Amino acid sequence: MAYIEVDSPASVKKQLAKVFEASLSATVPDEPDVVPLIEPCASKSGGKFADYQCNNAMSLWAKIKGKQTGFRGPPSVGQAIAKNLPPSEIIESCSVAGPGFVNIVLSKKWIAQRIEKMLVEGIHTWAPQLPVKRVLVDFSSPNIAKEMHVGHLRSTIIGDTLARMLEFACVESLIRRNHLGDWGTQFGMLIAHLYDTYPNPEDVNEAAIGDLQVFYKASKVRFDSDTEFKLRAQQSVVKLQSGEEKYLKAWQQICDVSKAEFEKVYQRLGVRLEAKGESYYNSLIPPTLEKLDKLGLIEESEGARVIFVEGVDIPLIAVKRDGGFNYSTTDLAALWYRLNVEKLDWNIYVTDVGQWQHFDQLFKAFRRAGWLPKDENEFPKCTHIGFGLVLGEDGKRFRSRSSDTVRLVELLDEAKRRCKTALLERDAVKGWSEEEIEKTSEAIGYGAVKYADLKINRLTNYTFNFDHMLNDKGNTAVYLQYAHARICSIIRKSGKDIEELKKSGNILLDQEDERTLGLHLIQFPEVFEESLSNLLPHVLCEYLYNLSEIFTKKFYTNCQVVGSPEETSRLLLCEATATVMRQCFYLLGIEPVYKL
Ligand code: ARG
Repeated sequence: MAYIEVDSPASVKKQLAKVFEASLSATVPDEPDVVPLIEPCASKSGGKFADYQCNNAMSLWAKIKGKQTGFRGPPSVGQAIAKNLPPSEIIESCSVAGPGFVNIVLSKKWIAQRIEKMLVEGIHTWAPQLPVKRVLVDFSSPNIAKEMHVGHLRSTIIGDTLARMLEFACVESLIRRNHLGDWGTQFGMLIAHLYDTYPNPEDVNEAAIGDLQVFYKASKVRFDSDTEFKLRAQQSVVKLQSGEEKYLKAWQQICDVSKAEFEKVYQRLGVRLEAKGESYYNSLIPPTLEKLDKLGLIEESEGARVIFVEGVDIPLIAVKRDGGFNYSTTDLAALWYRLNVEKLDWNIYVTDVGQWQHFDQLFKAFRRAGWLPKDENEFPKCTHIGFGLVLGEDGKRFRSRSSDTVRLVELLDEAKRRCKTALLERDAVKGWSEEEIEKTSEAIGYGAVKYADLKINRLTNYTFNFDHMLNDKGNTAVYLQYAHARICSIIRKSGKDIEELKKSGNILLDQEDERTLGLHLIQFPEVFEESLSNLLPHVLCEYLYNLSEIFTKKFYTNCQVVGSPEETSRLLLCEATATVMRQCFYLLGIEPVYKL
């Protein structure tokens, strides 16, 4: 079940469906609302029979078998579907195969015209229009003073891509929300440790907090081993949450140091986020709980105040036994705010799959309260988008060699450094400016880290491996960047003004590889639709990789571009390929490289 219906008028599948809808109602007039089943043909060894197929004949036959329709079996139903097709510029020919598949060959003239039109009017004309106005993507959301780990990196990369996809689909207002963990119990021990080290509040400044991860570890060691310190840490939380100034000041400073560190990661990744941390909802917690209480949702259980929801044995803990609030309490208040103050239609939360139960309980509690529609597909709605773990070579949770955690800034710097080394070994970069080398290494390095993450189904675990992701062969961003840069260089070398060619040039698809490339290009809208409706970026990656394979291994290997009689047409195909590739790069948050 898709997360959202995406209406994509530019989808070939959708356009064919319209033509077949007419044929189906003429073929079986007594069967109303038969939904056309149109699929692209899978390629078989030895080529494909056709481009698309209509698969309705078999299921239709099962429905009409006993009735007086005159059909003798699925193949005859298929024949009739093909015969009843209204005239259409889309279809060149149809044939019926096997048990009744209607095979469709598209008109190459139509394929060419679609590409020409996209080149003139822009690729945004291939974007769908989502039936939803205000969407929030809650992603990244690291915790202050704790390390920002590879899980947060995944959330950042996947969340940013989903946000870009939604924007491309014309969502009116899209919020990229950083739900920073800035209000947890960790602050008690941090502040207690801070004031133990610097008893004079005047001495407490950013430099004093220094390296937060070291600072965090030191205070954690004390917290775990020193009961007197633990007690003071717990009292500090209370003082902070009740707003005592000395404690607020320390809290603010710790947050600032931490945020500056996160910002370095966002800056490298080119990700923008709007921060509203957990602390923001502090004052909303009591009124939210009161409303839930009035609705009779809150019960006592083992000294805590909890909410039971359908189908889950353990309750959501709204107020802990000691009277304190937790992660769930904040999410209750935050979601209330998002629905009632920000008036969002769709809330998407991007975290590791391990948190699914937390979100399941949260959404169910809201449904129980009548604050979300009973039908989870109705708007306003909430969706948890989970992802798997990041593993190291050893198959265990990813850690760097030197320490038990990985600093994301260092990780990204390493990707860039490796790319720079590889780049400097190439003759082509002789004569490049230092700035060009820096920018290109960044685009390739950071892009490679993102692509390695996005190309696999987000629900599965993935193994972080620099050698794999930075390989210039195979399904990596490095390979894709080379393919894109090569296309740009073909166009440059032709010496032609591509903008002029777009205005008047025609695309011809007479050679088989030209046609294969053209067909793949016009399938972008339906692939994007699938990727967006299921919130699965890897679908788009697969398409992108296939596009560059078709371009490089088929089209470019077999079709001479510059200097051939078909030069104009082939240059336009190059430009269309580069345009679609860049759109995919953009959606995946990868900066394209034009020269390599
Ligand atoms: N800070 C949390 C973590 O590190 C993620 C927060 C996700 N968003 C939310 N609204 N709960 O696991």
